Amino acid sequence: MTDDQPHWRNAKRPEPFYVKSVAPIRAINREEREQALQQANNNLFNLSSPDIFIDLLTDSGTGAMSHHQWAALMHGDEAYAGSMSFSRFKDTVTDLFGYDYVLPTHQGRSAELILMTHFVKPGNYVPNNIHFDTTSAHVQYQKAYDVNLVVDEVYDWDSEFPFKGNMDLNKLEAFLKENGDQVPLVCLTVTCNSGGGQPVSISNIRAVKAICKKYNKPLFLDAARVIENAYFNLMRDPACRDMSIRDILHETTRHADGMWMSAKKDGLVNIGGFIAVRSPEHYEALRMYEILFDGFCTYGGMAGRDMEALAVGLKECVDEAYLEHRTGQVAHLNCLLRDAGVRTTWPPGGHAVYVDGRDFCPHIPDEQYPAQSLSLALYLEAGVRAVEIGIILRGRDPDDGENRYEGLDLVRLAIPRRMYSFTQLEYVAEALIELKKDASKIRGVRLAKETPMLRHFTSEFAWV
Ligand SMILES: Cc1ncc(COP(=O)(O)O)c(C=O)c1O
Repeated sequence: MTDDQPHWRNAKRPEPFYVKSVAPIRAINREEREQALQQANNNLFNLSSPDIFIDLLTDSGTGAMSHHQWAALMHGDEAYAGSMSFSRFKDTVTDLFGYDYVLPTHQGRSAELILMTHFVKPGNYVPNNIHFDTTSAHVQYQKAYDVNLVVDEVYDWDSEFPFKGNMDLNKLEAFLKENGDQVPLVCLTVTCNSGGGQPVSISNIRAVKAICKKYNKPLFLDAARVIENAYFNLMRDPACRDMSIRDILHETTRHADGMWMSAKKDGLVNIGGFIAVRSPEHYEALRMYEILFDGFCTYGGMAGRDMEALAVGLKECVDEAYLEHRTGQVAHLNCLLRDAGVRTTWPPGGHAVYVDGRDFCPHIPDEQYPAQSLSLALYLEAGVRAVEIGIILRGRDPDDGENRYEGLDLVRLAIPRRMYSFTQLEYVAEALIELKKDASKIRGVRLAKETPMLRHFTSEFAWV
């Protein structure tokens, strides 16, 4: 990095690994894609993977494991209780994040079910910078309200503010002053997935903690990408420049009472998750729900071998060379699109490139879901599967049943870890740039069948 060039420029660097095993893919032709999409009722979640050329639906559980992880599977101790695999996994979590009590879960949302069942009562409010969809749904499932208090910079497309995932401290303080009685816990999502994968600064985490302390509220981190968040602090906050990733991680988690992690992201595994807490009281209360919902507290829905692979994956993720390559892939794709006039969230975030659906398709009104329409058009154009993170995903207001139009309407191109080459990402950029030339031909959609909760996964769409 030079002084006049931010770290997200010049991000195309050699991979710090080589390919040892491959899985062939092929592109089906346009006519076949049209048929596949029709059969999927215009919901990209309904496609079969052989019908997809480049799959950027999610970075969750889709990455490639290392040979060390594959080897670790063989050490799996499958004892129902007290397995050595749990011990090794727990020791890794404690070492990296500093919490003494660890509850494995089968993935992130089961951790959310356990946490929200314990903490949240009907009518409560749960503040966050921005809740991820499953977190919102679990708050609402307890008949409570999810409240997003992110900084306004996240909505400014051209601001170069480096930590757009930060909690707005004034909004948080005002909210707690007004509604403190009804707030059982405060959450902070690092990095902030629904806000463009933008990082949260260490100083923001510290300040959020100070406010939580003042109002006597526990602080929990939604830490699916906490290691990528640490890397952004290293690169973007001069105060962190001489710290290691491990130091920054400790500084991140030290201020929170606990964290939960969908380990399918920074854990570099295909399945898994956990809750980690500091206090024995929290541990005992949460453990009861863990056993009820997910399994005994030394496996929580994961096989022993899964915990082995996760322990190795977490250690591999803190490697700076890996993180430079990983975030570099995202930055490279983002810069290619930005430079070609495609409006993307900026500066580049952690795990995905987010394209502004409304700007790409100004002729499509919100009622016809611009980002959803663009994601379908991208599949038809190039066999690339992305996902809408916008109006469809936000769902309806629980009180009045209206679509929640306020907020961003994005197409997310999530990049699986250690899976695709730079060339494949350049193909994606070319497809979008080509599509933009004739964007006015992209058609809007309407909801043909809508499901009441987490509707983006299962609803059906029809072209307008
Ligand atoms: C920030 C965040 N929290 C929670 C989850 C839910 O995790 P899972 O998909 O493992 O249930 C995700 C998944 O993408 C996420 O990105």
